[in-house]
Amino acid sequence: MILPIVAYGDPVLKKEAEEIDQDFPGLKQLISDMYETMYAAQGVGLAAPQIGQSIRLFIVDGSPFADDEEEEEEPDPKAAGIENFKKVFINPVIEEEEGEEWGFHEGCLSIPKIREEVFRKEKVHISYYDEQFNFQEEVYEGYAARIIQHEYDHVDGILFTDHLSPLKRRLLTKRLQNISKGDIKVDYKMKFPATKKSR
Ligand code: NI
Repeated sequence: MILPIVAYGDPVLKKEAEEIDQDFPGLKQLISDMYETMYAAQGVGLAAPQIGQSIRLFIVDGSPFADDEEEEEEPDPKAAGIENFKKVFINPVIEEEEGEEWGFHEGCLSIPKIREEVFRKEKVHISYYDEQFNFQEEVYEGYAARIIQHEYDHVDGILFTDHLSPLKRRLLTKRLQNISKGDIKVDYKMKFPATKKSR
């Protein structure tokens, strides 16, 4: 089932989400619905708060990044392994971030049509539980690390706009207000906090 994606301005996006255990009701269905929702919106990551559930869970599928790379002559080292980067992260903990900071224009399904450059470190060490609730510890870099950092922020109640300079954010104020009000054209299902409607 495709779920409406919560738009910028909804308090659930600013809340630090709660850990879950493997008995969380409807977990399997929730993960399957989140994948369906993410693919319908052509996203590469989706965190549970974005569908209104304040729990520490996010999903990723970086394969669209791999498709983008096919026309390039030189393989982009940041895209290494991205074609098989499809995973569920439950109760994740970023243990360490390292390397140089690099800029990338991030977008977010909760903040449609806005992309801004965000600087983050190259590499992340992350521990988490997978879909079967097996504990995992892994290291990612490049686009995979970038997707993880963005989605991990969501379960801590942080949006990519929080990383922008106050000036940049001020310049976006009007557009962000319009998103909250639903004054925007989006081709996927959303729920807007400043109206009672969803569409
Ligand atoms: Ni996002």
